[in-house]
Amino acid sequence: MSVKIGNNIDLGAFPLLLAPMEDVSDPPFRYVCKQNGVDMMYTEFISSEGLIRHAAKSKQKLDIFEYERPIGIQIFGSDIKSMEEATEIATLAKPDLIDINYGCPVKNVACRGAGASLLQDIDKMVAMTNAVVNATHLPVTVKTRLGWDDHTKNIYEVAERLQDIGIQALSIHGRTRSQMYKGSADWSLIKKVKKNPRIHIPIFGNGDVDSVEKAAAWRLEYEVDGIMIGRASIGYPWIFREIKHFFETGTYLDGPTIKERVDVCKTHFVKSIEWKGEKTGIFEMRRHYANYFKGIPNFKEYRMKLVSLDKVPDINEVLDEIAFQFADVTTDV
Ligand SMILES: Cc1cc2nc3c(=O)[nH]c(=O)nc-3n(C[C@H](O)[C@H](O)[C@H](O)COP(=O)(O)O)c2cc1C
Repeated sequence: MSVKIGNNIDLGAFPLLLAPMEDVSDPPFRYVCKQNGVDMMYTEFISSEGLIRHAAKSKQKLDIFEYERPIGIQIFGSDIKSMEEATEIATLAKPDLIDINYGCPVKNVACRGAGASLLQDIDKMVAMTNAVVNATHLPVTVKTRLGWDDHTKNIYEVAERLQDIGIQALSIHGRTRSQMYKGSADWSLIKKVKKNPRIHIPIFGNGDVDSVEKAAAWRLEYEVDGIMIGRASIGYPWIFREIKHFFETGTYLDGPTIKERVDVCKTHFVKSIEWKGEKTGIFEMRRHYANYFKGIPNFKEYRMKLVSLDKVPDINEVLDEIAFQFADVTTDV
């Protein structure tokens, strides 16, 4: 059965979502994920205060492209009025939906009353969500965690209250705020939310899915409507097509060859330069190389070159050399 968000977004059966990730899920990265079968994507989180003050960095994150649809713009903030205004600004960028971040655990977000800190004040979270829902004609979704800490895992109540005021889907990262990224994600509460007879919006599970096997097992065990994947896609956008292939055929797709790794890395690089300009594109691409070539033995020399060269043809030459040099290597990620 097809998973739908609102009336217009049809995600097909058991969609795979790219998690919003600051400094990662920008248009160049989203391009390679889209090429590899992801069903829905989000922007990096965008500060509501940044948006209403027209900060260049926040504005730039509103850039979305037709081929990316369906795509959500994710916003965060601590002030309800600012979130309302930011929603109006984000709506003008014409995404398919607006997503609210109630999950970010990092200090300068959560300790300033935004992100996961709203999990400590559900009334305010509900009021903020209500303001966002009323400020846009687009569907509004939420991404959050199980609760603030081990003693306040309130996602069951949160899900009901947010659904009641009109959110159209909920993505749940199976950790608390105080866990940050430590320990392992616990999806049992996500299942409880999904199985709540009162809940009728799609529930997406998030946290620690990093293989076809895990996606298949957790789909069965936790009965979620779809899976959101973050870290495992960094440098490995093939994870989407591999999981989708398994669900469609019951068979495993071979992992990418070195040539494919190089090709996708080059595409990512081209898109980075197109969107960020040459200088920033080259600089920011450096954080991705090690991920694209994880598992290749004796790779250090090449990585050092990739992160120090600052001319496009020189970098492409090293990438070609990698394709040639390691053509026969099979990596097991
Ligand atoms: C580098 C990085 C940046 C992130 N930025 C965001 C963000 O902007 N918004 C958000 O809701 N979550 C953010 N997250 C959390 C992820 O969306 C996701 O919930 C988390 O990584 C768990 O999923 P995973 O185990 O599949 O990575 C970020 C995570 C990482 C690793």
